[in-house]
Amino acid sequence: MLSSLSASILGTGSYLPERIMTNAELEKMVDTNDEWIRTRTGIQERRIAGPSETTSDMAAAAARAALENAGIDAQEISMIICATVTPDMFFPNTACFVQTKIGATQAVCFDVSAACSGFLYAMEIARQFIASDPSKTILVIGADKLSTIVNWEDRNTCVLFGDGAGAAILRHREGGRGIITTSMGSDGKLNNILYTPGGGSAAPTTLENVSQKLATIHMNGRETYKQAVKSMVESSLQALKQADLTIDQITCIIPHQANLRIIEAIATRLNVSLNHFHLNLDRYGNTSAAAVAIALDEAARTRNFQRGDLILLVVFGGGLTWAASVVEW
Ligand code: ACO
Repeated sequence: MLSSLSASILGTGSYLPERIMTNAELEKMVDTNDEWIRTRTGIQERRIAGPSETTSDMAAAAARAALENAGIDAQEISMIICATVTPDMFFPNTACFVQTKIGATQAVCFDVSAACSGFLYAMEIARQFIASDPSKTILVIGADKLSTIVNWEDRNTCVLFGDGAGAAILRHREGGRGIITTSMGSDGKLNNILYTPGGGSAAPTTLENVSQKLATIHMNGRETYKQAVKSMVESSLQALKQADLTIDQITCIIPHQANLRIIEAIATRLNVSLNHFHLNLDRYGNTSAAAVAIALDEAARTRNFQRGDLILLVVFGGGLTWAASVVEW
């Protein structure tokens, strides 16, 4: 009986660092200007974590907010899945650090690496665990401190990104459909349009590749833009089809917050008004795995979602990876 195996969102939370970096500040760092950044991306400012503030610090803050919103204790969490490309360390995984920080001593902890798509990949993994064991309560987190892998001398990329974390708690709820379906995809052939070439086993950290800034984000902006629009439109349509729904039945669309023009192009192709999209990239920029999680939390709090509302989440990231989920609130 499918209905007894669903995974619903019990609560959400998010965290943004206090420090705001405006476009005007970037004008002093690289050859750019506020008008270029706003018209090409829609971004006006982004948040930057403090030097000693880690990805797991932000993730734990978002997790605490989600626990409070769900009205449950950390001891009830049986699993923590953290999506990130900026883990505190290669190992232990970031979820283990979060476990200690929030006191979720009963949780099994691991990370998921799917760049900006990571949060929906993690949500789908959580759904599958709950489908096979409805007693599970799973904390899913998207958290990234991209400021640590941005090349602050590269105007092509440094204007786009920011830091933050978002979290959701999933559990079976009798009578609720929760995550109705997820459409996912990857294309490793395009691994070199958005990537961090250095710092891993392919190009371990050496003095030489540090000076070449290999451990920073490298991006072919035009190609990324094209692929983002294509895959987010296709996966949205696929998820809607799988759920036997049409776009006009969706209350709110929560997209990856990379670039306003990408979202406008998606809106046009899906034939839906931009008002249906929850947007915050003007304030936070692209926070990678955290972006859709923060937007989900913000939308849930400000748009007054009601039980039964249908939400479409759609993401795209390096890999390439992409996913779209239809969720009943
Ligand atoms: N300020 C001023 N000029 C700039 C800047 C900047 N910050 N960055 C680039 N330019 C210049 C370029 O050098 C180029 O100059 P040139 O013509 O003299 O060579 C000119 O602006 C136009 O550059 P384009 O790359 O053609 O600009 P485009 O209109 O494509 O916009 C952008 C660039 C915003 C990066 C766009 O391609 C884009 O949004 N791509 C997707 C990026 C993205 O979303 N990445 C992450 C998504 S997935 C994830 O989150 C991991």
